[in-house]
Amino acid sequence: MDIPLVKTPVQTVFPDLTEDMLGTIDIRPAKAGDVHGMSALINHYASNNVMLARGPQYLYQHLQDYLVATSIRKDTGKECVVGCAALNILWGDLAEVRSLAVHRSCQHKGLGGDIVRQLIERCRALEIPRVFCFTLVDAFFRSIGFTVFDRDLLPPIVWAECSKCPKFYNCDEISMIFQVDK
Ligand SMILES: CC(C)(COP(=O)(O)OP(=O)(O)OC[C@H]1O[C@@H](n2cnc3c(N)ncnc32)[C@H](O)[C@@H]1OP(=O)(O)O)[C@@H](O)C(=O)NCCC(=O)NCCS
Repeated sequence: MDIPLVKTPVQTVFPDLTEDMLGTIDIRPAKAGDVHGMSALINHYASNNVMLARGPQYLYQHLQDYLVATSIRKDTGKECVVGCAALNILWGDLAEVRSLAVHRSCQHKGLGGDIVRQLIERCRALEIPRVFCFTLVDAFFRSIGFTVFDRDLLPPIVWAECSKCPKFYNCDEISMIFQVDK
């Protein structure tokens, strides 16, 4: 039997949602079927230059790092992804929040904060004492308890990922860190 390794790509489009089209929002670990929705959110904001683009291979290979926020659409009865973020573990004492995105219809209701706090709980359970991020929305991360710190203090392992970024030579992002209590 021929089993194709790569399915024919299906176009992912940033969903045209409004608040009244959504039911309860739940946060849970991402599954393979969420990747189209995650890609639509992340790459929509990436095209506006506020976060890094992520291709499907990256998302599948790092799927276990991701949490998604989902809701059942009232018009279609189907589940849709309205938020996501990943915790990337870099070392025994350091993890990074990546790919944080919340659909505009769900912003300013505490959802982004809830997702990041759940990632911090993952860190606590894994006994990883520090989480950092590179961001343009420092006010958001400050509201959770992150503080600005000198990026030159980050270990070289961080720069392996940074070196893949198109902004490497002209990075405008702020580095912020959160100390995880025991
Ligand atoms: C950043 C983002 C994830 C925040 O999600 P959210 O669900 O709206 O966040 P919350 O409701 O938990 O925000 C908590 C507080 O953070 C601050 N905040 C949130 N978004 C902010 C923004 N874009 N700019 C400045 N401060 C912000 C506000 O103080 C907010 O409280 P308020 O709504 O009472 O004013 C969302 O705006 C988003 O997806 N933006 C586009 C992608 C992006 O920039 N991702 C971050 C990559 S590092």
